[in-house]
Amino acid sequence: MKSKITIPYLYEMHSKDERVALLTAYDYPTALIEDEAGIEIILVGDSLAMTMLGYENTLSVTIDEMLIFTKAVTRAVKRAFVVADMPFLTYKTDSDTAIKNAGKFIQEANADAVKLEGAEGRVAENIEAIVNAGIAVMGHIGLTPQSIGVLGGYKVQGTNKDTALKLIENAKRLENAGVFAIIAESIPTELTPLIKEKVNIPVYGIGAGVNADGQILVVHDILGLFHDFIPRFVKRYTELDKILRNAFTSYIKDVKDANFPDDKQSYHMDQKELKSLKKTL
Ligand code: KIV
Repeated sequence: MKSKITIPYLYEMHSKDERVALLTAYDYPTALIEDEAGIEIILVGDSLAMTMLGYENTLSVTIDEMLIFTKAVTRAVKRAFVVADMPFLTYKTDSDTAIKNAGKFIQEANADAVKLEGAEGRVAENIEAIVNAGIAVMGHIGLTPQSIGVLGGYKVQGTNKDTALKLIENAKRLENAGVFAIIAESIPTELTPLIKEKVNIPVYGIGAGVNADGQILVVHDILGLFHDFIPRFVKRYTELDKILRNAFTSYIKDVKDANFPDDKQSYHMDQKELKSLKKTL
């Protein structure tokens, strides 16, 4: 087994201009396969609110729910660096609460780092406090789904000079606050290298074009398991929903036709014991 991914490894990749592969995972079997396949950073994203729990958006998921999924992932992972998303309103009040909540992901759920959305208001201040408490933090700029109400929908961000400048400013603010890397979501391809020029940490992209230091996608999106909303930046690598549907319908048919179980899946009683039982009955 290759050794555990660490922040120095991520910085080395960054210095060599080598891409990092990130993916979300929320459960034990998926995390196990991703880790074995060589995914370097696994994010237990709050996208699980929709993909795993069927909520309408990410705002409803609680810290206790996030902790359950994070624990399942860290139990599976041996090599990947595991980042857990801090849910809505768990890091935007006072810094003591933010540290306490971030600490739960590290201490109780064994994550390697936490991710927070945004860079304005109290967020940068609280990131600094969390980092000073010894917890690694990943930033997230651009389309930040927890602010969907303020952003007015799932829209591409930084499309004009002013909003692009604000994003660059936010990336610098996050770097100054101490994040080890930034996720940039749904921004123009041309903007990503401009952000990268201004900061000295990896900038991973989701819908941020090919120039990012690595790419992240939601695992359900690449597997074809989530259909409620499919952003332009998603690439499907398989249609797992079709494979699952076929398996389920074949199983149903086998049960109805008495083709399952057959002898291979059945247990048998000793003939003498059976005879004696029947006699007794
Ligand atoms: O919650 C999530 O899955 C995320 C990624 C989309 C970056 O934040």
